[in-house]
Amino acid sequence: MEHSIRFGKEGLLSLASNINNKGYSSLFVLTDTNTAHHCLDRFLSILELTPVNVLTMNAGEENKNLKTCETLWHELSSRGADRNSALINLGGGVVTDLGGFIASTFKRGIDFYNVPTTLLAMVDASVGGKTGIDLGPLKNQIGIIQEPVQVIIDSHWLQTLPDAELRSGFSEMLKHGLIADKIYWNKLLSLSKLSPKELIPFIERSVELKNEVVLQDPTEKNLRKILNYGHTLGHAIESYYLNHPAQVRLLHGEAIAIGMIMEAYLSVTTCGLSMKEAKEIRQAFNRWFSVIEISTEDKNEILSLLRHDKKNKGNAVRFVLLEQVGKPKIDIEVTSEQISEAFQFYSDLS
Ligand SMILES: NC(=O)c1ccc[n+]([C@@H]2O[C@H](COP(=O)([O-])OP(=O)(O)OC[C@H]3O[C@@H](n4cnc5c(N)ncnc54)[C@H](O)[C@@H]3O)[C@@H](O)[C@H]2O)c1
Ligand SMILES: [Zn+2]
Repeated sequence: MEHSIRFGKEGLLSLASNINNKGYSSLFVLTDTNTAHHCLDRFLSILELTPVNVLTMNAGEENKNLKTCETLWHELSSRGADRNSALINLGGGVVTDLGGFIASTFKRGIDFYNVPTTLLAMVDASVGGKTGIDLGPLKNQIGIIQEPVQVIIDSHWLQTLPDAELRSGFSEMLKHGLIADKIYWNKLLSLSKLSPKELIPFIERSVELKNEVVLQDPTEKNLRKILNYGHTLGHAIESYYLNHPAQVRLLHGEAIAIGMIMEAYLSVTTCGLSMKEAKEIRQAFNRWFSVIEISTEDKNEILSLLRHDKKNKGNAVRFVLLEQVGKPKIDIEVTSEQISEAFQFYSDLS
């Protein structure tokens, strides 16, 4: 089912009237500790929905797990949620992923709505119906594809978002350019500053690009795989550092930025992307993200995590790569040697 995506404060008002029309038996809002602080008051005052039950989870990817779900299912149950209740997810990708999952499984599924409050959740996580949680260090291993009833994207929330989180979301926007629209990619490259004000004009284009792909292939049989550009290596890198927080703490967008640089190199060796373009891609990401040092030991552990990646069939590791900027190709196999070289390409500065 196609869900509707609305923008801005009018979008929030349409959410209020939509919810009133549905006549839910009870209404729940899921926040995390940060969105409870920064976003909840404005949200409640615009929507004027009463009564609303507020659920709050601890912020952070490390809480995107079954334990948090269990706590929230118990809370829903003890506060009288039934099959005719609805859940609004007010937060970043952790809240929309986990909230979508608990709503889709509670009493075999209740309606849910996404109100993303990070740039990453606006342009990516809240759209497309993928919900889920992590399993130990492995990302998004448990989940379900279920569309929210509506997604409301209001860039107002970005005003309180830390810069690093803004950059993290920007990384997914760059990905949209790389996999689907060279003109958009070039426009993003010309940005001189990353601030909500500079980014707002581009958010709708990113949402549109993601949504177009998802609508053509909701269950990721073929085309939708292109959204995984940078994510095969990026997820393994993200999982590894999530498990080794003393080394570096990487946000999702920071991890996939590394993945996109490495996979640009793999695109050169297997898909005919020019080295010049791969270097331009590396330069584009290095402008906003600092290069981290990855030791041989780190690399080996990342490679073993890669084997668990959900996109692999059998033993071969398959990638989405680029023939050109804007022209992706799916299901490309690469050798371990080429992957090792890709780590080297990431570390080289020339
Ligand atoms: N379902 C999908 O298709 C999909 C796609 C991409 C990413 N994801 C998932 O999304 C997650 C990452 O999302 P994220 O980057 O939004 O992380 P996040 O939800 O952890 O949010 C980042 C941080 O910003 C805080 N925050 C949120 N809104 C704020 C605001 N307006 N002001 C101040 N602070 C705010 C949060 O509390 C958190 O500390 C990952 O778990 C990833 O797997 C899912
Ligand atoms: Zn992503």
